[in-house]
Amino acid sequence: QNCNIGFVGLGVMGKNLALNLADHGYRVAGFDLDTHKVQDVLDTEAAERPDASADARIIGCSSMEDMLSNLVKPRVIVVLVPAGNPVDAVCHSLIDAGLEADDIVVDCGNSQWTDTIRREAEYKEKFKFFGTAVSGGEVGARFGPSLMPGGDADSWKYLQPMWEAVAAKVDENGKPIVSNTPGKPVTEGEPCTAYLGPNGAGHYVKMVHNGIEYADMQLICEAYHLLRSLLGYEPEEIGKLFEKWNQGVLNSYLVEITADILQQYDQKTGAPLVDMILDSAGQKGTGRWTSISATQMGVPAGIISESVYARALSTLTGERELAANKLVAEVESGDIEAEEVEKAIEEALYCAKICAYAQGFQLMRAAQKEYDWTLNFTDIAKIWRGGCIIRASFLQKIADAFIENPQLENLLLSDYFADAMASKQTGLRKAVVLAAQSGIPTPSFFSALAYFDGYRSEVLPANLLQAQRDYFGAHTYERVDAEPGEKFHTYWQEEGRPERKA
Ligand code: 6PG
Repeated sequence: QNCNIGFVGLGVMGKNLALNLADHGYRVAGFDLDTHKVQDVLDTEAAERPDASADARIIGCSSMEDMLSNLVKPRVIVVLVPAGNPVDAVCHSLIDAGLEADDIVVDCGNSQWTDTIRREAEYKEKFKFFGTAVSGGEVGARFGPSLMPGGDADSWKYLQPMWEAVAAKVDENGKPIVSNTPGKPVTEGEPCTAYLGPNGAGHYVKMVHNGIEYADMQLICEAYHLLRSLLGYEPEEIGKLFEKWNQGVLNSYLVEITADILQQYDQKTGAPLVDMILDSAGQKGTGRWTSISATQMGVPAGIISESVYARALSTLTGERELAANKLVAEVESGDIEAEEVEKAIEEALYCAKICAYAQGFQLMRAAQKEYDWTLNFTDIAKIWRGGCIIRASFLQKIADAFIENPQLENLLLSDYFADAMASKQTGLRKAVVLAAQSGIPTPSFFSALAYFDGYRSEVLPANLLQAQRDYFGAHTYERVDAEPGEKFHTYWQEEGRPERKA
């Protein structure tokens, strides 16, 4: 009865998070319906720490009751099962197994934030439901993920020490401190976790993380596509170029792994491995949720949405094959200086990335009003500096921008990013022109430029749009010379076009 934390679900993420906690000295009671998974985590602990048999920190449980009986009170139970109904099924089983009102159930899956809000309210009388989104994949879970907790503030005090111990760490410059050796966890540095707010706040922030992840990935893919199609570079060459870019402002985990991917060859055919992979992208839903949430709240997050659509379009493999034969592009080609194109694409990637993050943070600003949260954007940028999939040195700059002005409305308005856009936007414009002239699809680059130009436009043609709405639907409009909120309607087709206050 002396375990600090229980686990329901010992799949890859559950197992690795449990091992991570054990590395930090916590005692874990693990349960999974699949007894092989329970045995697997015990075997792994024993293999990783040969001294573990004398001092095993993970114990295997045969039932939820067994697990609960091994935990100190209030009991903390991590649930790591597929998002959706399985989470509720586990909650009900835990209630049946004897969970008490002070016990804390932590959903560490990629749950939809609305489910977390609902669950927190629904289970209030039975136990405390808490959300903690985990980013960083299986390696992150094992050696230091970025953790995005949200839920009952009182429960946080029980979770905080454990979450801070197992989370990824960064040094005083915001650089990740990495140790991927079992039994030798990183114990110094600033942990990549912070309490984000009540109920669904953590899962919402993770969802936006994933929306940004979609945009980041798509933008890198578009840069690759341009380099390959415009300059005829081979994957390995592009991989080397990405390696070089990774030394500068684009330094990030996703650029790093892309450089690695592009330099790998297929063992069977000897072709670049990327060329042997079907160009049809999967998605589990978090990017789509981000896009839907932005649309629902009227927040312009076009780059994220285009990244979702780009995946959708990629899956139309059969149709694309037909269309490739039927639809011909009228393209212009000219002499292009390779070095100049490389520079333009590098700058385009950086500018579009800034715009994508601007959209993600704008979205969270809207969500905090909608859901009555007080999100700390400095903390969010900081906990994304290490452990998670979008980790990048760039996030320190975002944190700095919010430290300077916590009320910053849009990242583009910070001096640092305004200057970056001023000095590098030529590259984005050039890349978009080249893509358009050559018929290379770069939807997220296009969208980023349109967002930047739209956001910096004092005058937009929405006046004409309002007139159209009023013309066919009497939807009314505001006048530039009247009080804000005063509505007018024009009888467009009547003689003299009489205007009335609506
Ligand atoms: C992370 C990842 C992780 C997962 C995505 C993949 O932060 O660790 O985002 O959560 O890899 O959900 O999403 P798709 O399958 O939709 O690409």
